[in-house]
Formats: sequence, C-alpha cells, structure tokens
Amino acid sequence: MATNSLEHDLKCLSIEELEKIAATMMDKQTRDYYNEGADSGSTLRENIDAYQKYRIRPRILRDVSRLDTSATIFGHKNAFPMGVAPTAMQRLAHTDGESATACACAKRNVIMGLSSFSTTTLEDVAQAADNQIPLVLQLYLFEERAHSEKLIARAKKAGYKAVFLTVDTPYLGRRNLEIRNQFKLPSHFSIPNFAQQGDEKGGDAEFQQEKGAKKERKPSSAGFTGKDGSRTVPSGPITFHSHAANPTLSWEKDIEWLKKECGDDMQVWIKGVATAEDAQLAIKHKVDGIVVSNHGGRQLNGALATLDALPEVVAAVNKRIPVHVDGGIRHGTDIFKALALGADFCWIGRPVLWALAYKGQTGVELCLRLLEDEFKLAMGLAGVTRVQDINKSYLVKMEGCAFPAKL
Ligand code: FNR
Ligand code: LAC
Repeated sequence: MATNSLEHDLKCLSIEELEKIAATMMDKQTRDYYNEGADSGSTLRENIDAYQKYRIRPRILRDVSRLDTSATIFGHKNAFPMGVAPTAMQRLAHTDGESATACACAKRNVIMGLSSFSTTTLEDVAQAADNQIPLVLQLYLFEERAHSEKLIARAKKAGYKAVFLTVDTPYLGRRNLEIRNQFKLPSHFSIPNFAQQGDEKGGDAEFQQEKGAKKERKPSSAGFTGKDGSRTVPSGPITFHSHAANPTLSWEKDIEWLKKECGDDMQVWIKGVATAEDAQLAIKHKVDGIVVSNHGGRQLNGALATLDALPEVVAAVNKRIPVHVDGGIRHGTDIFKALALGADFCWIGRPVLWALAYKGQTGVELCLRLLEDEFKLAMGLAGVTRVQDINKSYLVKMEGCAFPAKL
C-alpha cells in the first residue's frame, strides 16, 4: 500500500490539500466556475458535511492481510468503487484537459465519464483511454434532437459503454459568481463535440464572438416559453448556457427514444435522481442504472445532500438496478460510508479538476491514488476484505448535536 511507500507527494497528501493548492493555480474565472454551487452554496456544503453525520464501526481480529478493493462496472474490474464524473471544460484547468484525465484514468484503472461540453472530442478521449477502461458519455438531450442523435452515434462508434442522461437541468441553476464574472470560454478553447461542418473550432458561440470569426453567425439564444405557452427552441451555436438546459424532457417522451437510439450498444443511465419516487419511475422506464446526484450542488440549492437522499433510493430500487452516488466525496472513508449505505459505486467531480490544475495527468493520477489508498486503508482498519461485504452494520449515524459547537 502506498501509505508505507516513498511515493508520496509531500506537498499534497490529501484532497483537502489538493483543493488549497489548486485554488492558487487557477485564474479567478475558472476557480469560481469550478468551485461554486448554486445560490448560497448550501447544498454544495451539505453534500460534503453529510459524510460527517456517520461514523464507522470497525471490526477487529479478522485477518485483513489481503484486501480486494476492486469493483466490477460494465464488466470491467475497476481499481476501486469510484469513477471520474463528467465535468465540463477541463482544458480551463490544464491545456491537456480531458485527454490528461483519460490517460490518468487508464493508468490507475478508473472508469471515466466525459461531459458533452468537454473541450476535447469524445474520439480523442477514447484514443487517450486506449481501451484500458470503460468510458461513459454524459448527455444533455437537446430540444433539437439531430445534435443528440449525432453525438450518440459517434459515442457508439468510439466504443462508449453507456450514456448518463443528466436530468437535473430542466433549467440552469443560478450561479452568481459565474454571472458576475460574465463567464466566457477563452478564445483558444472550443466545445468540439458540437463542431458543425466546416467549423473546425466547434460550436461555442462565445468563442466565435470573441474571436471575431464567423461574424455572420448569430449568437446563441436559449429556448423560452412564450406567454401563450408556445416554445421556442434554443438556436445558434451550441453553448452550455444556451443548450444544456431542456425543460421539455419527460419520462414518456424521451427515455424510450433514448433507449432506442442507444440500442444494444450503450446502456442508458439517469444522472440526477434524488427521490424514491423517481427511482421507481426509472425502473418502470427500464433504465440500466441511476446516479443519485444533485450536480454537485450546482442546480437546485436547498435540495437534499446526496448522501441523505441515497437511503430512500436504495430502498426503493431494492437491488433491481445499480445505484451510484456523487457529490461531496473528498476522502476514501466517504466512499466506504456511501457503500455502507447501499451505493454500488461512487463518482467524484471537483477533485479531478483541482488535480488537473495542480499537475495535469500526474495530478489526476495522484488524486485517484490518494482516494484509492484511503479507501483501501479504511477497509483494512474497519475489518472488511471485499467491497461487496461493506454494509450498514459498519456505520452509525450521529443523531442530534454530534459536533462541538463553536463558542
Ligand atoms: C459538473 N457536473 C456536470 N454534470 C453533468 O452531468 N454534465 C456536465 O457537463 C457537468 N459539468 C460540471 C462542471 C463542473 C465545473 C462541476 C463542478 C460539475 C456535475 C458532476 O458530474 C458531478 O455531479 C459533481 O461534480 C459531483 O460533485 P463533487 O464531486 O464535485 O462534489
Ligand atoms: C455545469 C454544467 C456544464 O455544471 O453541467 O457547469
């Protein structure tokens, strides 16, 4: 275990330290975009704090000399039960962006999710991952289906194993720092998954405007619903501000369609489930799996922390499909706790962005290694040798005033 090895990066021994270092290395616009939550940020904070409501009940004298941290996902034996969640625009953190993340994931044997709004094409990411790990494409299903159809076909061709349809964005959450900074993708980056023919730089309107290129193109406009209820779909070049949110999505209209589109080649998962009721509906509509997520606290502020939402979802699903969780995971013991509450697998978002900002691919490898080492150590110290044996009996919830109040 690296805990006893000499491989430590003495400047960065935890995700907490990684966050601090990264904050000094990113420009203000990037730091604010990555780090903020919606509105007051209370859900973002609660995602993290929820893990402190639980304590681990360690068991002893069990011969923990052999520990198997692996977890199977899409038929692949992943290093441990954690993957890299899709986060947009990773080249803001490091010029190698999503390719660096993919190389690090391949090296550490950790599954990766790619955002539709990546700054690298899904094909280039697949090439960087080099068939070493399964890849998942996060999908924003656009009102203009043709864009999504193309993207799905490309993901299939490139060998992606699943799409994660993000369903917590009927509207974009209100992010005040993003508004105040007038967030713009710098002109040397683009969103190339949506490049239009003859437009090698991709579909980012802000890019086009800033660069002064393609002046004839109209800027993006978001969709809106008129007073009479009529709907105007978003138009112009594709940006996450204009196109990611889609308030028209529904179980009946869209899930069936998406399943047909993905066929037998790619599984269809829903990312953004937060209640037992919706978990039941997900099963009714035959999705392959769900991710309990609130988009890292970037959408509905005031929503339940994901760890608090997890038990009702786990109970409703009752092992019929896999239940994953993301949001606020900052330590290997958090993964242990989420699994003990019934999650099959966890995903991390921001820590990977901080890691990219710190040292590109090497930084992401470090981030994944820290979490794997911590998780392995947690298993050993809690007396569990196999991931599938982690269960509720290893946790206790601290009720009431578990924290010393600051006087
Ligand atoms: C995200 N997330 C996200 N989710 C998604 O479905 N599509 C996307 O493009 C993005 N983009 C994105 C950008 C940034 C900067 C962040 C921080 C997050 C949400 C992401 O997949 C995941 O749900 C959260 O990041 C998990 O929370 P933590 O680990 O960041 O606390
Ligand atoms: C975000 C979008 C891109 O959270 O998902 O910024």
